[in-house]
Amino acid sequence: MDKFIINGGNTLKGTIKIGGSKNAALALMPATLLASGKYQFDNIPDLRDISTMSKLLEMMGVDTEKHNQILSINTFRVNKFEAPYEQVKKMRASIYVLGPLVARYGYAKVSLPGGCAWGPRPVNLHIEGVRKLGAKIEIDQGYIVAKAKKLKGARITFDVSSVGATGNVMMAAVLAKGTSVIENAAIEPEIIALAEFLVKMGAQINGIGTTRLEIEGVDALHPVNEAMIPDRIEAGTFLVAAALTGGKIKIENCNPSHITSLLTKLEEAGSKLQIGTDWIKIQSPKIPKPVDVTTAVYPGFPTDMQAQWLSLMSVAKGSSVIIDTIYFDRFKHVPELIRLGANIELNRNTAMVKGVKQLKAAKVMSTDLRASASLVLAGLVAKGKTEVLRVYHLDRGYERLEKKLQSLGAKIRRVSGKEY
Ligand code: UD1
Repeated sequence: MDKFIINGGNTLKGTIKIGGSKNAALALMPATLLASGKYQFDNIPDLRDISTMSKLLEMMGVDTEKHNQILSINTFRVNKFEAPYEQVKKMRASIYVLGPLVARYGYAKVSLPGGCAWGPRPVNLHIEGVRKLGAKIEIDQGYIVAKAKKLKGARITFDVSSVGATGNVMMAAVLAKGTSVIENAAIEPEIIALAEFLVKMGAQINGIGTTRLEIEGVDALHPVNEAMIPDRIEAGTFLVAAALTGGKIKIENCNPSHITSLLTKLEEAGSKLQIGTDWIKIQSPKIPKPVDVTTAVYPGFPTDMQAQWLSLMSVAKGSSVIIDTIYFDRFKHVPELIRLGANIELNRNTAMVKGVKQLKAAKVMSTDLRASASLVLAGLVAKGKTEVLRVYHLDRGYERLEKKLQSLGAKIRRVSGKEY
């Protein structure tokens, strides 16, 4: 298992390009199961989650080929409608194949994902949504087995706003007979990207970008090409990295309108921002001001940025409170940040942070994707040599993170598992 070694203390300076959105790609790739033929996706990042999804589709008979940022997919020979446990346990987003498979082929067998590193993550809304559309669903030996001759339009009201369940049910409803209404639908940019992709394929969806989607089922869809939207969490992570190090950077190929809540918080923390249509310049003070954050569904502050914000607040001049309302247990980074000298008190889903003058290097352990990002960021300002172990978590969702940080002046290097 690779690790990162970081010598803290360098101010980030320079320009980097943001890659395509992991979470949009993970939704659009399974959507190709909805119509046979050839697709081409541009701006696909080089990430482990993307190859995991490609592998899963290949197991179903799909051909995939990736050249740089272009991913070609051919769904002509789909002949297996199963997502085995071995794949799903690597990546929960594998459950996205459920809706498309049952809608197009009338059968899907998808392993239940189980919990994740920081706690339970149910998929009841995915199952109930597809069931409402007329699929017969049984849970058999840890698998969701869904059958339907033809799905039928229905009204689905989600108890909580869920990105994944909205995507899955929307993909199922586009080929159902009649009208479906999804109430309390997620409005995250990745869901809008999926809806727009489906419309390009011939789907009829009204209310895109609102919490009420009205979908008129069609008989068939057709393959199209698409470019991924920029990854808003990668963009946010680099902005927070700049804020932590008192840096001055420009991020390009991003969509500032997707991260307005984060930009507001960065300004409150003392950073100066210049915002273009697809770029952001940030100039940050040496010490950030304390700023409270409560995560919320889009356009609120993203839970995927909570861990990084906690690192920033660890060195702020004063105290702040960070609350995660989406994932109550998503705080596995806290004990590791404390090992780096942070002063954080955790009470259920509320972290009370007292900023310290200086974090100090230590060996820390990655536990999940965003927690790992927060440790790398903390390492950038910790005094001495920080080692972040198990960086494979980071490779799931950050493209060449160490290379991009190096280009901004950070002293970070990867040590391959074979070397130590
Ligand atoms: C997606 C993102 C993830 C992000 C999360 C919240 C992908 C691949 N992942 O995950 O990075 O952190 O959105 O923005 O896009 N819930 C249920 N039942 C369900 C499904 C969800 O109770 O069937 C709850 C969850 O426990 C959570 C909330 O709904 O409290 C939101 O989760 P959801 O939006 O579904 O997250 P994901 O789609 O899994």
